[in-house]
Amino acid sequence: MFLPDLLQGKRILVTGGGTGLGKSMGRRFLELGAELVICGRRQAVLEETAGEFRAAFPNKVAWKVCDIRDAEAVDHMAHEIWAERPLDALVNNAAGNIAARTETLSARAIDAVLGIVLHGAAYCTLACGKRWLADQRKAAVLSIVTSYAWTGSAYVVPSAMGKAGVLALTRSLAVEWGGRGIRLNAIAPGPFPTPGAWERLAPLPAVAREFETRNPLHRHGEHRELADLAAFLLSDGAGFINGDCVTIDGGEWLKGAGQFNFLERLTDAEWAAFRPKKG
Ligand code: HXC
Ligand code: NAP
Repeated sequence: MFLPDLLQGKRILVTGGGTGLGKSMGRRFLELGAELVICGRRQAVLEETAGEFRAAFPNKVAWKVCDIRDAEAVDHMAHEIWAERPLDALVNNAAGNIAARTETLSARAIDAVLGIVLHGAAYCTLACGKRWLADQRKAAVLSIVTSYAWTGSAYVVPSAMGKAGVLALTRSLAVEWGGRGIRLNAIAPGPFPTPGAWERLAPLPAVAREFETRNPLHRHGEHRELADLAAFLLSDGAGFINGDCVTIDGGEWLKGAGQFNFLERLTDAEWAAFRPKKG
């Protein structure tokens, strides 16, 4: 799909890059010539992923243990990264989510999700952004949100609040920093099975099946499809795309939105009742 040097020379930090979609994006960025830094809370996970990547891409992968809810820890991570070699791009991918009836959530539960999704993304964006601005360095930020960032969603309310905030961060800074060489965009994925998301959001087989197939294409997304979109948005070829959010969900959210979409279940005989009567 792309020339193999699409991201040549770019150094990219993927938060939560040890697992799931972050890992798939990181692998694709490496294939396309990038250098990769991944971060997360669990050292063993980062070591394993980095080891796997290094076997194919020696000297191209670094990892940092960092809890992005801690602003000081994030700044320390950025300081260490810049001392090695400055970044060219940040992917705000790390997230936390709880599927529950909202009235059952404690204050700690709300803070746990918002701390990762909203505060974490803001701390990482600022830690990188202020360094890029000081260096007058061109850069790109890509944030992984969800389609319920703009629709909201029952049962994942702290995540919906956080993702809406990240979309606001993206659009606001795209204007504030765009003229100084920093582009900010977002991706809103539909269902892309990962152990982290499916254990928490679809632990029942019937829920998982419905989650994966209720979109108009009746399938889940492939990690490669999302990773390619991310690579394109970070590449110089996307240099005029700024402040946008690209949805990659097979049409899932629109299917839930259109007023008459429910008519898909009608039979031919029932459709006949919609035709004007002759004579
Ligand atoms: C109710 C819950 C709960 C649940 C946790 N809590 N799970 N409450 N229902 N299912 C409560 C706990 O009881 C606790 O409150 C508080 O939340 C914090 O929980 P901890 O386990 O102490 O927090 P922590 O270790 O910081 O873990 C954060 C986490 C966890 C968000 C709860 O799930 C996590 O680490 N997630 C990271 C990975 C992740 O979520 N990946 C999926 C992203 S998928 P009390 O008051 O009891 O102390 C995604 C996809 C979106 O975002 C869209 C899909 C299409
Ligand atoms: P995942 O594998 O659970 O990824 C979450 C990652 O975030 C983990 O690597 C986790 O590592 C890291 N993380 C969590 N809290 C952190 C913290 N405080 N500091 C640093 N890192 C932290 O889930 P995923 O499905 O790949 O999700 C990736 C992104 O895609 C998320 O933004 C999610 O909202 C979004 N998304 C996913 C889907 C989907 O269908 N999968 C759909 C829409 C949006 P540690 O636990 O080691 O910290």
